[in-house]
Amino acid sequence: MALSHRVARGVIARREEAVNSIRITEVGPRDGLQNELVRVPTDIKIQFINLLSAAGIPEIEVTSFVSPTWVPQLGDAAEVLHGITRRGGTIYSALVPNERGLDRALEAEVDKISVFVSATEGFSQRNTNGSIEQVLQRITPVITRAHLAGLPVRGYVSCIIRCPWDGAVDPAQVRRVCASLLEIGVDELDLGDTIGAAQPESLAQLYEVMASLVEPAATTLHLHDTNGQAIACVRRGLELGVRSFDASAGGLGGCPFAQGAPGNVATEVLLSAVKDAGFESGVDAQRVADAGRWMRQQLASACGASS
Ligand code: HMG
Ligand code: MG
Repeated sequence: MALSHRVARGVIARREEAVNSIRITEVGPRDGLQNELVRVPTDIKIQFINLLSAAGIPEIEVTSFVSPTWVPQLGDAAEVLHGITRRGGTIYSALVPNERGLDRALEAEVDKISVFVSATEGFSQRNTNGSIEQVLQRITPVITRAHLAGLPVRGYVSCIIRCPWDGAVDPAQVRRVCASLLEIGVDELDLGDTIGAAQPESLAQLYEVMASLVEPAATTLHLHDTNGQAIACVRRGLELGVRSFDASAGGLGGCPFAQGAPGNVATEVLLSAVKDAGFESGVDAQRVADAGRWMRQQLASACGASS
């Protein structure tokens, strides 16, 4: 075969691989465990993350460097990061709300940070004790310093469809907050349906408004499964061109500052849906399901022990 044909076929194969490939970020150790009433022992968290690493997940959000007064469940963030066995090729990331959190995250040698802001004022106050504008100002030096330290930065926008305090959210407002995040330098936008209110059509309307700012393929979708619509939204997201999803093994998850925010979409269910739709993730769904089941058993026995 002529060289030019071989090169062309190689390019097409790589394009097809990229088009058919889905990126999964496992958020169970952070979004899942931040919401548990029982305090999960650090060594259990470490074992959970190691099980998820062994399943081949490319990125795991392992914890938060938020105020332990606000989220005591994740007060052991540094110990968790120091205790895990880091698998080559996996990114171990953490949530960071302010410069104090960044100092702690850098000390713990995190690979990537996630900053977070709400599309609505009500959730912004409840979740971060500040207005949207104050939070954007607070995280601006965090992003600059993370970049100087060589770390990529994910920017979450919460309440993309509905806010537990302010109600329905105008997609134009989500777009404005996303534009501000891009302006202050985040590398990746993560759209959070914090209370699981999205329907396939409301998601499509949001992406239509977002189209002039960012392509769907450049966003990550973070779905909670309150109303059993998360998988329908994943399918719609795939049709729209979204190629990166957050999920939580065993469907753990929720936000203590958003009433009605139960688990994230379960990673193993998401994996099965994307596979059925003809996409590859490189993640071992059986191992993820086993890790989720194991973690749920630990939570059940911790609840039993504390009651
Ligand atoms: P604040 O009370 O206004 O902060 O909270 P402050 O600066 O006044 O500090 C109060 C105390 O906390 C001080 O200690 C600080 O040192 C300490 P004191 O002097 O009283 O002893 N402090 C810290 N300690 C350790 N690490 C820190 C830190 N910061 C302050 N980083 C703050 C403001 C933003 C810190 C607080 O509101 C907070 O931590 N919020 C985080 C809430 C949270 O974690 N929510 C859940 C994650 S977001 C989510 O789940 C949504 C998502 O999944 C996407 C979706 O679903 O939409 C991402
Ligand atoms: Mg969440």
